[in-house]
Amino acid sequence: MRPERSSRPLTDPSARPAEPGRRTLLGAGAAAVAAGLLGAGGTAAARPVRADGRGAAAASGDVPPGYVTPGGPHVRDAEKRRGNGPVRQLSLLATPALVQLGGRTVRTWAYDGSLTGPEMRVTAGDTLAVDFANNLPHHTTVHWHGVALRNDMDGVPGITQAAVAPGASFPYRFMVVRPGTYWYHPHVGVQQDRGLYGPLIVDDPREPLAYDKEWVVVLDDWVDGIDGSDPDAILKELNHGMSHGGHEMRAAAAPEGPSRILKGSHSELLGGEAGNVDYPLHLINGRTADDPETFTAAPGDRIRIRLINAGGDTAYRVALGGHTMTITHTDGHPVEHADTDTLLLGMSERYDVLVTAKDGAFPLTALAEGKKHLAQAVLRTGGGSAPGPGTRPRELDGKLVTAPDLYSAESVRLPERDVERRHQMVLTGSMGRFNWAINHEPFTPSQRYAVREGERVQLVFRNHTRMWHPMHLHGHAFELADGGPRKDTVSVRPGRTVRVHLDADNPGLWMLHCHNVYHSESGMMTVLGYRD
Ligand code: C2O
Ligand code: CU
Repeated sequence: MRPERSSRPLTDPSARPAEPGRRTLLGAGAAAVAAGLLGAGGTAAARPVRADGRGAAAASGDVPPGYVTPGGPHVRDAEKRRGNGPVRQLSLLATPALVQLGGRTVRTWAYDGSLTGPEMRVTAGDTLAVDFANNLPHHTTVHWHGVALRNDMDGVPGITQAAVAPGASFPYRFMVVRPGTYWYHPHVGVQQDRGLYGPLIVDDPREPLAYDKEWVVVLDDWVDGIDGSDPDAILKELNHGMSHGGHEMRAAAAPEGPSRILKGSHSELLGGEAGNVDYPLHLINGRTADDPETFTAAPGDRIRIRLINAGGDTAYRVALGGHTMTITHTDGHPVEHADTDTLLLGMSERYDVLVTAKDGAFPLTALAEGKKHLAQAVLRTGGGSAPGPGTRPRELDGKLVTAPDLYSAESVRLPERDVERRHQMVLTGSMGRFNWAINHEPFTPSQRYAVREGERVQLVFRNHTRMWHPMHLHGHAFELADGGPRKDTVSVRPGRTVRVHLDADNPGLWMLHCHNVYHSESGMMTVLGYRD
């Protein structure tokens, strides 16, 4: 049964007031946190690190007391409850690479040297074991975005593991319980805005949808290696050369080439400024619009398209020319099916859709929302000339179904329950000062917003800034208000308040941050911590 939109109370007077996180501004915090972490999964090569990801001697005494330890017994017990499925053994290498982008050769960092990173595919109930090796000249980690996994495999340096040093390796190993469309990327600095990202698809052993073909579509905004630009230099330019939040940025290459700051962009859909970075290229599956990927099928085929926005600072409006799309999932979780002409994906969001292919050649277009550029791929089921690289299908301006319009599928809907814990997250900061934060506090690794295992938690995001923010929580899928979809990332437009609910069922220390990689790195990030 679909709950009535008005039936669920938005606030619960019995809820406890939000506990402000403990904040310690001493730089030693991260090292101390890291030092407490090496209980599980760490190899000899993994060493404690500071927040900037460099190896450092462990300090002690700065970890906020009274919280679950990522490698501790609560996390191990939660993992045992997930079972012990067959091991799917994979390997992954982060490495400097040369990639071809529409006729140019670009130097970047990429997984297994390719764009996008390798598609990982497992079946729900498997144990995913990824032997990860770091061939980069910098520390890194791998984060498994959206997966409700054991906390010590979540890939957050200084919080859930020590970052993996250059030349070192780390064995990621965790049970994967929920099917769906996920992805992986580093959680160090702005590395994600290089070529370090790839899809993680979890098949359902009892797949309820019927379809003939599947197309994984990864969207990305690209600047790395173009005319001397790289994401670290852009972060520095956005920060006016300052660093925030106790972070010491990696020394950026001397800024060369053009400014990459985007000024005066506008999007009605995003409620104001669309982004901060002016990307020269937008990619679908690592290809530019003038050298697009072509996906072939037969007319009448039902195609499941799994859309993933791996961008750093770009929302994409996506449409398939000549087709309507039936939304079946968002962020890995099923929804009551809904037809739409176009979709809007904030950074890190995913949508799964079904389409019934018509006869011909059709553009799959991802418009960089508010930024005027586009990315494109082609669906071909018959003859006819391919759509040109600038093709803007009229579906982009047709019916748009957004996440708050959707309803969670019954199978994953949270049961009705009173809120026992509420945290207010006021999103603060400005583009001019680039001082993005949560509740005016830039991130420090010792921050904790407390929850207890078993609680029904409400997070209230209030956007007091003049820009939209895709807010992401690790390790959980919250539910949008009034029976809305289960998601791990929700877009909060300027001036708006968004309430989400979750059940605290996965003990650990979990990052909560804006998935604009330049905002999170500038301070719009914190930690939801389970009390011990
Ligand atoms: Cu894609 Cu901290 O997340
Ligand atoms: Cu943001």
